[in-house]
Amino acid sequence: MREVAAGDRAAYFSNVTLSGHPARMFTSRFGSGRALQVAVRSDTVEQGVRQAARLLAGVGGTGVLLAAVLGYWVSRTGLAPVARLTATAERIAATRDARHRIDMPAGSARREDEVTRLATAFNTMLGELEQSVTAQRRLVADASHELRTPLTALRTNADLLARGDRLTGAQRDRASGALQRQLREVTQLVNDLIELARDEEPLPLVEDVSLADLAAHAVRSARGHWPDVPFTLTVDPGAAPAHVPGVPARFSRLLTNLLDNAAKFSPSGAPVEVALTRSGSGSVQGAELTVRDHGPGISPQDAPYVFDRFYRADSARALPGSGLGLAMARQIAHAHGATITAEPAPGGGALFRVGFERPPGPKGR
Ligand SMILES: Nc1ncnc2c1ncn2[C@@H]1O[C@H](COP(=O)(O)OP(=O)(O)O)[C@@H](O)[C@H]1O
Ligand SMILES: [Mg+2]
Repeated sequence: MREVAAGDRAAYFSNVTLSGHPARMFTSRFGSGRALQVAVRSDTVEQGVRQAARLLAGVGGTGVLLAAVLGYWVSRTGLAPVARLTATAERIAATRDARHRIDMPAGSARREDEVTRLATAFNTMLGELEQSVTAQRRLVADASHELRTPLTALRTNADLLARGDRLTGAQRDRASGALQRQLREVTQLVNDLIELARDEEPLPLVEDVSLADLAAHAVRSARGHWPDVPFTLTVDPGAAPAHVPGVPARFSRLLTNLLDNAAKFSPSGAPVEVALTRSGSGSVQGAELTVRDHGPGISPQDAPYVFDRFYRADSARALPGSGLGLAMARQIAHAHGATITAEPAPGGGALFRVGFERPPGPKGR
């Protein structure tokens, strides 16, 4: 203090104890040769600092805790759909049952976050999968059912022939003729089933098919097959250049199935008329293939079902066939983006239309 008063030392702070209390003292020069000392109790300040430290620790701790709880809650509610998705996927993998779905929480229709969209997409995919599995199962069930009858008939005739020594020559010939016919039918049925079960078109075989050439070829081979049926083919010059992308062999199959039906149901000598015409107008242009016969036609109560697998009208049961021809025709048409319909033809008979949209032009795509 003396050094400060003498001006030898700058003003300074120091810690002292005043009547038992800690204090902070300031020493400064005051005039010449004098010094001033000011002291303030410092224990209250220290207490304040300690209090602030405690408060900060409390607030900080609560903050961390709150963040942890909130984080947990967000992850639980935000990721719950993901957990459900995983569980559903695991369940399907374990049970191979595509009927499971992810439960969407109520009101989620309004929520449009990524996870909800994923869950919706997942459910849609499951729906498609289930449908395809069901369709395959039904095909197998229908097929086994349909195969049973011809197989029984085959066995009967085979048994009959096995006891051939007791048959007359004529009876034996009849039985072996029937056996051969039934074998052919079963073979045809199995082949049709194989084609029907495969519903994707083999991509490497897709090419631009000229509808006029296709029709000409199908009619030519139908004439060979049914020499007694007069087939006529008319091609509208406007539709002649129509090309559609597709697998030629499959298109032929479609047309052959229609021509076979027409010939089969035609009374003898009645013509089967095949035509290729232009359809549509403006920018949406198309071509239409029609097959018309003069047979009994399709009755209104059969019309909705003729394209179903194995469906045969009662009146058709006496004729050979399996009921797969039109199902296959429809499948081929749909695989190529074409439509197929059946209707009664004006003046009697059946009229089948196969519509191809947006083809014409040099390369109809
Ligand atoms: N041109 C037609 N005229 C009358 N009925 C038809 C014609 N084409 C198909 N049908 C009806 O549709 C059914 C299904 O045809 P399809 O699937 O080809 O089977 P299938 O020829 O083996 O009987 C036929 O059984 C018949 O009842
Ligand atoms: Mg048929």
